[in-house]
Amino acid sequence: MNMTIEQAGLMLADPLAYADEPRLHEGLTLLRREAPVHLVEAPEYTPFYAVTRHADIMRVERDNALWLSAPRPVLGKKAFEEHARQQAAQGVQLKTLVHMDDPDHRVVRAIGADWFRPKAMRAMESRIQELARRYVDRMADYGGECDFATQVAVHYPLYVILSLLGLPESDFPRMLKLTQELFGGADAETRRGDTAEDQFAVLLDFFAYFQQLTAARRAHPTEDLASAIANAQVDGKPLNDVETASYYVIIASAGHDTTSSTVAGGLHALIEHPDQLARLREDPGLLPLAVDEMIRWVTPVKEFMRTASADTTLNGVDIRAGESVLLSYPSANRDEEVFADPFTFDAGRDPNRHLAFGFGVHYCLGAALARMELKALFAELLPRLESVELAGRPEWTATTFVGGIKHLPIRYKLR
Ligand code: HEM
Repeated sequence: MNMTIEQAGLMLADPLAYADEPRLHEGLTLLRREAPVHLVEAPEYTPFYAVTRHADIMRVERDNALWLSAPRPVLGKKAFEEHARQQAAQGVQLKTLVHMDDPDHRVVRAIGADWFRPKAMRAMESRIQELARRYVDRMADYGGECDFATQVAVHYPLYVILSLLGLPESDFPRMLKLTQELFGGADAETRRGDTAEDQFAVLLDFFAYFQQLTAARRAHPTEDLASAIANAQVDGKPLNDVETASYYVIIASAGHDTTSSTVAGGLHALIEHPDQLARLREDPGLLPLAVDEMIRWVTPVKEFMRTASADTTLNGVDIRAGESVLLSYPSANRDEEVFADPFTFDAGRDPNRHLAFGFGVHYCLGAALARMELKALFAELLPRLESVELAGRPEWTATTFVGGIKHLPIRYKLR
């Protein structure tokens, strides 16, 4: 059935639309071609402009004085945004890097930045390889059949990130549940409840956990990232409770579902493209390129938003101060102006100027870590994987924000 531009636009505010990727991409392709900056007026949402072309998204992200993150960083229902405003007035507020603009953003980003530079990441490499081996060994224990998404992909990146923060392994299951509740809030399988209050309760649980952690690391600093955050000084003062907890929240959550969706989606892409799997096995030197192609292919972050600080024009469309744009990364990453055969999974794609990590001052802080994790897992898995096939139908998360494959039943033989 053909779709109209209006219907295509409405999909961007519909979590279920993201669980049906062929249809989603039909809509995004239509928008890129016919209405690349398109006003979406969806019930329950404040109107926004959907920006679907690669070049326009870069234009917005490059000009961070004109396009602000703070007023409306991600898409949320009006009721949620209203509740957030009320809570903020009482001092309960998530204020992470993605909610900030300069000058605060620059200062707060610098606190964590050293921990995520490629050099620091190389120091983490052996720990990450050890975790990758642990999970491939676990696949061997499962005896040739598993749900790769829930039994492998979901755990491995969380363990990496929580190890980096320095949390005890006994707390990992609790963090897993909370990150899924926070980011999978639109999916009936993971959400805690339907209301804005339910979603805020998840945030408050996060805050409570991390407040205790801050107190512990201030009393007894260690060498981990949690200590760096707890003891960081801005203008000679430590971060306050909300700022510290927000830092943990962004790292524990942004570092998790994103990478796990890419791990699952990456293996799915290789199963669906056996020629590319064979190519990668023959030439493991292609793995770094293949990892970026997996990230482009999956694009686990579906959107971030920006709000105009002054009246402006974007690709011929007038936008007034205070109005918001939604940056559609899945669309940018299939833009036929930028990618040759964008709907082909090409394990050796080079160049690959995908925008899955965003662009500009908010460019993903964990990009080097995410690449290293993906490389370590597939470097461990592929040489041991004699055969792999689907053992059932994969399922995708219903979300408008972060997600991908949530169930990937596979049958395999490991060496
Ligand atoms: C920001 C994607 C993994 C931490 C972002 C942004 C995107 C993104 C699209 C926003 C960029 C923008 O607004 O221009 C991804 C993808 C990942 C991934 C696709 C995995 C494949 C990670 C990991 C971490 C992480 C492993 C580690 C902790 C962050 C942080 C920010 C961020 C802290 C906020 C940066 C800022 O606002 O300055 N990520 N991410 N991400 N990501 Fe990632």
